[in-house]
Amino acid sequence: MNIELTESQVAIVSALFWLAIAFGILAWLYHKKPAPLRVTLEHSKRGLERVRSTVQTVTRWNAERLKSLLFDSFDKPKVCVISNREPYIHNREGALTKLLRPASGLVSALEPIVKACSGLWIAHGSGSADREMSDKNGKLQVPPEKPEYLLKRVWISKEDEDGYYNGFANEGLWPLCHIAHTRPRFSEGDWNKYVKVNQQFAKAMADEKLPGRPVVLVQDYHFALLPKLLKQNRPETLVSLFWHIPWPNAETFGICPWRENLLTGMLASDLIGFHTQFHCNNFFASVERFLEAKVDRETSSVTHQGHVCTIKPFPIGVDWPSPHAIEDSAFEDERLAILAEFGLPSEIKLGVGVDRADYTKGIVERFRSIELFLELHPEWIDRFSFIQIASPCRTKIARYAELSSEIKATAKEINERFAYAKVPPIVLKLKQHSHEQIHKLYRAADFCLVTPLHDGMNLVAKEFVSARSDMRGVLILSHFAGAAMELDHALLVNPYSANECAKAIHQAIMMPPSEQAERMRIMGEQVSERNIYAWAGSFLSEISEVSRRKGLRTSLFKREKEHLKATS
Ligand code: F6P
Repeated sequence: MNIELTESQVAIVSALFWLAIAFGILAWLYHKKPAPLRVTLEHSKRGLERVRSTVQTVTRWNAERLKSLLFDSFDKPKVCVISNREPYIHNREGALTKLLRPASGLVSALEPIVKACSGLWIAHGSGSADREMSDKNGKLQVPPEKPEYLLKRVWISKEDEDGYYNGFANEGLWPLCHIAHTRPRFSEGDWNKYVKVNQQFAKAMADEKLPGRPVVLVQDYHFALLPKLLKQNRPETLVSLFWHIPWPNAETFGICPWRENLLTGMLASDLIGFHTQFHCNNFFASVERFLEAKVDRETSSVTHQGHVCTIKPFPIGVDWPSPHAIEDSAFEDERLAILAEFGLPSEIKLGVGVDRADYTKGIVERFRSIELFLELHPEWIDRFSFIQIASPCRTKIARYAELSSEIKATAKEINERFAYAKVPPIVLKLKQHSHEQIHKLYRAADFCLVTPLHDGMNLVAKEFVSARSDMRGVLILSHFAGAAMELDHALLVNPYSANECAKAIHQAIMMPPSEQAERMRIMGEQVSERNIYAWAGSFLSEISEVSRRKGLRTSLFKREKEHLKATS
């Protein structure tokens, strides 16, 4: 067949021909360029691991990266942490002076920042031998064995401590912010001590006369008034506040007779951090309800009395890789040693719980779920035990003393109920344990129960994951811990439901190793990527960004003023 084409038809056909060639070349080039993650995900598991580890070596946060961020973002950074709890406590025990590291996630999270810039840490000197171990200004270099930064201890009288720490902070704000059904108690006397101690810490900071523009990281609900006091003393100070516990809804917060004072004190900060967006939202709602301020959810900021404060979530993390890590091959021997140490046989399934003895941690509820589990699955009697570490805290507060008795009585009652068994269902240790001991327990366990009734984050959940380099063990985690927002491959439970928790315990001890490994691997990625250095890094980056924006605003304002002056 003879097809005759006109000149324009020939032009169209040849254009189409060249277009097709060009498209082919483009498609070939597209497939040749480095594989995007979308494509990588379809690759083999090993390929995926390789890609992930490459990405992590490039982006994973560590102490070095944090240090460079500090020096790149701030001019001769002088970072100062202010917290109630000190990172090193000296106690007198007979003729000996003992050094104690408090069981505090706050301390482990903040120390890398202060170390990185040889900074300053101001805290309450609470140890019985603290005074004799410090100079006349309450100062000493720490860590004692390898000094890297300065600790300044503030001395608080017993009377002030009672009103500020036991009273307003822990009998008022603590139950106010946690939904754990313990009624907050507010008194004028405690409030006055809270104000006084906040002023005392502001003075301790002012006395330092730090050069340049100090960056102050105020920690927690003990110091809601401090940001304002610091700004009054030295307006150029960059002040941030991290609130380690939840923030309640506006209605609940409104119970506090000094709600406006607290919000005003906090909003003098340049940056406020919470663990979750949910707590930021509750904070915005409280500000809207009780202050005349402009809340801007778009920019996550509040303008109050002409000052702009940014409010954002920064979920706190743990050290990764774990500083207490051991070879995977040593796990089995260590597990046998732990079981022997606690007087337990080697062939059992072991659960652990590690908490401060606090009513928000749901320890009594947890014991009841263990009782129910054994009731529903009697085949596990004698083949199961649960070790609970509960470190005593805030013992001068009546509710805490009551709780200790309640914890002891419940464990005893349950063990007596199963007294015929050779293996006790619950082994309770009401005493503080070292980080090393706790990590041994994490590694020996088949599952870890982290079931707070309400918690800002809960670092035990993340520590358990960081301890399981062997990819074994199951995390059972409360929906009401901030950590549940990230660790959705744990078995998530409602701690108020003994039935749900008992079912999860059964699921955990029956879980095949392959499923344990898969869940642990995913949670491990989350915990390693959002480690403590990532937390500190993102918080400091935000402070530096806030300061940059403020500098810009001030210079624009100045220029505008000069312009107005010149043209008037
Ligand atoms: O979880 C809130 C918190 O204040 C932490 O920041 C702190 O490490 C922990 O409670 C311990 O409390 P305390 O210092 O009262 O023993």
